[in-house]
Amino acid sequence: MTDLPDHDVLVLYATETGTAQDAADRAARHLRRLHLKARVLSVDAYPISELIHEPLVLFLISTSGSGSFPRPALPLWTLLLRSDLPHDLFEDLHFAVFGLGDSAYEKFCWPAKLLERRLEGLGGTAVVRRGEGDDQHLLGVDGALLPWLDSLIDVLSEHFPPPPGTPSDIPPPRATFVPASPISGSSDPRLSNPRYHQATLRVNKRVTAEDWWQDVRHFEFEFEREVHYAPGSTASLLPSNPPEAVDAFMEALGWEEQADIPIYVHPNLGDQTLPTFLPSPSTSTTLRCLLTHHLSILSVPRRAFWECLVHWLENTELSDEKDKVLEWLSEDGGDDLAFYTTHPRRTTLECLAEFTSARGKIPPEYVFDLVPGMREREFSIAGSSKKHPNTLHLLIAIVKYRTKFIKAPRKGVATSWLAGLEPGTRLVVGINPPQLALPAPSTPMILVGPGTGVAPMRAVVEDRVVSGAMGVCLLIFVFVMLVDDICIETVLYFGCRSAGKDQYYAEEWRSYEREGRLVYRLAASRDPPASTSGESEKTGKTYVQDLIVQDGPRVWDMLRRGGVVFISGSSNKMPAAVRAVLRSVGEREGGMSEEEAREWVERAEREGRVVEECWS
Ligand SMILES: Cc1cc2nc3c(=O)[nH]c(=O)nc-3n(C[C@H](O)[C@H](O)[C@H](O)COP(=O)(O)OP(=O)(O)OC[C@H]3O[C@@H](n4cnc5c(N)ncnc54)[C@H](O)[C@@H]3O)c2cc1C
Ligand SMILES: Cc1cc2nc3c(=O)[nH]c(=O)nc-3n(C[C@H](O)[C@H](O)[C@H](O)COP(=O)(O)O)c2cc1C
Repeated sequence: MTDLPDHDVLVLYATETGTAQDAADRAARHLRRLHLKARVLSVDAYPISELIHEPLVLFLISTSGSGSFPRPALPLWTLLLRSDLPHDLFEDLHFAVFGLGDSAYEKFCWPAKLLERRLEGLGGTAVVRRGEGDDQHLLGVDGALLPWLDSLIDVLSEHFPPPPGTPSDIPPPRATFVPASPISGSSDPRLSNPRYHQATLRVNKRVTAEDWWQDVRHFEFEFEREVHYAPGSTASLLPSNPPEAVDAFMEALGWEEQADIPIYVHPNLGDQTLPTFLPSPSTSTTLRCLLTHHLSILSVPRRAFWECLVHWLENTELSDEKDKVLEWLSEDGGDDLAFYTTHPRRTTLECLAEFTSARGKIPPEYVFDLVPGMREREFSIAGSSKKHPNTLHLLIAIVKYRTKFIKAPRKGVATSWLAGLEPGTRLVVGINPPQLALPAPSTPMILVGPGTGVAPMRAVVEDRVVSGAMGVCLLIFVFVMLVDDICIETVLYFGCRSAGKDQYYAEEWRSYEREGRLVYRLAASRDPPASTSGESEKTGKTYVQDLIVQDGPRVWDMLRRGGVVFISGSSNKMPAAVRAVLRSVGEREGGMSEEEAREWVERAEREGRVVEECWS
């Protein structure tokens, strides 16, 4: 490791929602202390075959559903799993792995564990033990990241002693703004990727009762070209910030006069990333456009925001702004920073409204150092493209909640933007392939989709119904009953709070049930039982897992015959509770021991017969 060419460290990150990217940028800034130069790249933007030539690589890797690798890391992992790789392949590689995860999930930071073990198995040397950042930590990922980076720097400083004196200068910005000619209509860079499509919003309709606390909407978008997708696919949407928030942000920093000046954005630093979907360096844009479409000014600020802002803050007669932030950034200040920002979910814009002494001092080029890039949000597609050709259906809960200490409600960035879109709005939609490989129509399917988790189930049910209907056309009459038998092997467990208020697509499920194409099981967790309410649909306080227990013999029979379980929805306790009742079905109906039932469900998961797609 003593012969690092040009003191070069490769920092690879794999992220779904941007946290690992932020951590990679932070790691690169730490390495500057030793005058080590880092290249920070998303793992899918790096030619993996080059890895054997790298002397030192840091991996910052988050964890996706069911402990899986985040999508950008899948090619790397597939390659590393090849059985023909020599055991000394990475004998010259020094590496360190930091995982990002949430210990509320069963498979906490699983990809980081697997990656570290595999790299060592192939001859690589870990320079420090793996670190594991946990969303559950009071300080979030930082709780483990900062100590891990410190221990990394300790080890590396033995090889690369830091030069004397600590630089206290303001680091250069990540990007330079170059004056440009006025903006000429430029196309969205995403459209050069075949995954993305232009679409027009046609329907934006509330599907919860008007007097219900939660606003959940059904959206329909019409594609401008032919687009096909399989059930279980998701759609990616990049939200925008509202104009009044953009104006307020520029006012808070004194950037109003530069808002509409045409500029080119030129990357400045190889060791810090820029938002993914920026216009190319030869396409002109404006600060207003960047703040509207590319920067997340309404999210909770990360530590990097304060580390940047503090350079320009001052102590004033009214408030010791600089001292306060320096204290938050000190070794013992993390809790106070979390109490100010993370816990009340204070937005970057709200923080700037309170810390005003930097106004007019920060050059706008620092905007990428202050604010993270806007990230896409993923939504399960709520319809089959066989049933709704060239149309995309989504079922989306509009995020709005309150926290202690701040009066104004907190609003989800993407869902508030979506809720405000008028039919006729054109936007760009990304389509992502499904986790679930839909089994043959003859395979029994158990769909467990409480709340908006029912979105992908609608796609699956419609697909199976359409496949069944096509069968009816093709087969002679005597087989019609058989085809119906095939379709009835779909059981949907839907959970809501109240049958009359938030039971999405109820009419459709009932209609499929009448046609014998679906068994629909409704669990309403807040309704009084039907006998006391007088309404036949009210199930009493029931959850989806209770119904699975009630249906034990049928569930066992379907699973015994190779049935597939698809679980979708909130990643709170529901997926674990469903797995637990599947185990209990194995014990009660299949006569298995506790251990056998656990192994049975785990095997079904490994073989893709229990699939989960959940989100927080
Ligand atoms: C594979 C996948 C499929 C998905 N499918 C769907 C879908 O079909 N329908 C759907 O509605 N969503 C779906 N989501 C979730 C969706 O991607 C967004 O995360 C969600 O809509 C919120 O986005 P937002 O930008 O409005 O909220 P953000 O601005 O990102 O804010 C969300 C954050 O706010 C905080 N928060 C939210 N509610 C509360 C609360 N009550 N108390 C405290 N903090 C809170 C949490 O930290 C949460 O992470 C899916 C996610 C994934 C990963
Ligand atoms: C849908 C979803 C599934 C997740 N599943 C797991 C998991 O199985 N194990 C885990 O440790 N963390 C899990 N997490 C937590 C993330 O790994 C964690 O929030 C991480 O900081 C996200 O990093 P990223 O923004 O770079 O993707 C999950 C998060 C989401 C949204």
